[in-house]
Amino acid sequence: MGVRVCVVGGGVVGLSTATLLQAALPPDASITLVADKFLSNTTSDGAAGIFRPGLQFQGPTQEITRRWLQDSYDHYLKILNSSEAASAGVKKVSGYHFSNNYPKIVWNALLKPILEEYRGCTPEELSTHGFKYGTFATTLLTDCTHYLPYLTRKFTSRGGVIEERRLDSLEELAGKYDVVCNCCGFGAKDLVPDQTMTPIRGQVFKVRAPWVKNFYYCDYDAYIIPGMDYVTLGGTRQFDSYNTEVSKYDSQAIWERCLQVLPSLKDAQIVREWVGWRPYRPVVRVEKERMNFGGGKTLKVVHNYGHGGYGVMSAPGTSMHAVTLVKQFLDEPKAKL
Ligand SMILES: Cc1cc2nc3c(=O)[nH]c(=O)nc-3n(C[C@H](O)[C@H](O)[C@H](O)COP(=O)(O)OP(=O)(O)OC[C@H]3O[C@@H](n4cnc5c(N)ncnc54)[C@H](O)[C@@H]3O)c2cc1C
Ligand SMILES: *[C@@H]1O[C@H](CO)[C@@H](O)[C@H](O)[C@H]1NC(C)=O
Ligand SMILES: *[C@@H]1O[C@H](CO)[C@@H](O)[C@H](O)[C@H]1NC(C)=O
Repeated sequence: MGVRVCVVGGGVVGLSTATLLQAALPPDASITLVADKFLSNTTSDGAAGIFRPGLQFQGPTQEITRRWLQDSYDHYLKILNSSEAASAGVKKVSGYHFSNNYPKIVWNALLKPILEEYRGCTPEELSTHGFKYGTFATTLLTDCTHYLPYLTRKFTSRGGVIEERRLDSLEELAGKYDVVCNCCGFGAKDLVPDQTMTPIRGQVFKVRAPWVKNFYYCDYDAYIIPGMDYVTLGGTRQFDSYNTEVSKYDSQAIWERCLQVLPSLKDAQIVREWVGWRPYRPVVRVEKERMNFGGGKTLKVVHNYGHGGYGVMSAPGTSMHAVTLVKQFLDEPKAKL
């Protein structure tokens, strides 16, 4: 019998890990994905999915952070350049980062070495939009309303099994799997449990405005990001805020700020409003752990969670890393009885 691996989590991180495991393990390996939420019910589904790391995005070392980002970008670039780009929801997008307050914020040191096109704005671009400082960049975007179904089809068509249920503890998986890969996002706060997990609450509009072709990031958390079908208008970044309801005050502030940047949005048709919790952890956790539950019950776990506001763009890279750690666990000689 082949090895038995379980992936916990059906968001972009879990599905990325599950499909990469299928490619990396022998064909007789059995891979099960367990989660209580899928597709439109996940945090991943509402993300804009733009490839643009915040400077607070951190792995255990600078070198690892940069490798995760480069591996992720290369992964999405390969999809973009394939016949699957449209069905996967991967596209190229150009746009601006503007500020009136802080000149350095428009330059992103993590992004600079990766992108082909990244430059300061011309005086004309600045005056047209009414800002003092700005950069123009071309990057990638992965729209999870397409990408999650795409990964799900890929996973199940290669024999992956999906189980819909909630886990109260990882202990429930002990004895059933050789290795568990834990990609449960904010769920890690209770499931691991990991008290360093903190929600960064984000509220957005999804609107139909097909004339908007560029992305815009501006002061005060205002952003406009065109996805495959809709444009995301944001936003909020409320640290340690556990509210899941749409706030009318946030709605009003987002709408006003976005219209100030792009007045033509007044004719945009609102499709939905959405709130999500970015699963923030000071350092994204990709790590092996040998869990002991007492009574001789143990479980080999590879964690892959805590991606904050950058989980879509960084999922391929952190998942490749997690797959390497899963293989290290599987290569260990079996304990003698
Ligand atoms: C407004 C907003 C905008 C964003 N924009 C971007 C962006 O432009 N670019 C970007 O890269 N990122 C963005 N993000 C961040 C991105 O959404 C997250 O980093 C990413 O979705 C995290 O993916 P995940 O798979 O870890 O978590 P999730 O999508 O939340 O998936 C977690 C999975 O784990 C399962 N799970 C959890 N606990 C349990 C349990 N106890 N038992 C069973 N299953 C469990 C859930 O059911 C779910 O399937 C944005 C987020 C928000 C809120
Ligand atoms: C999302 O959750 C609702 C409520 O639990 C459920 O009825 C629906 O089927 C879920 N959707 C998906 C795609 O899983
Ligand atoms: C994109 O695809 C073309 C043809 O399939 C290939 O020649 C080219 O090298 C690819 N570029 C990248 C960056 O993968």
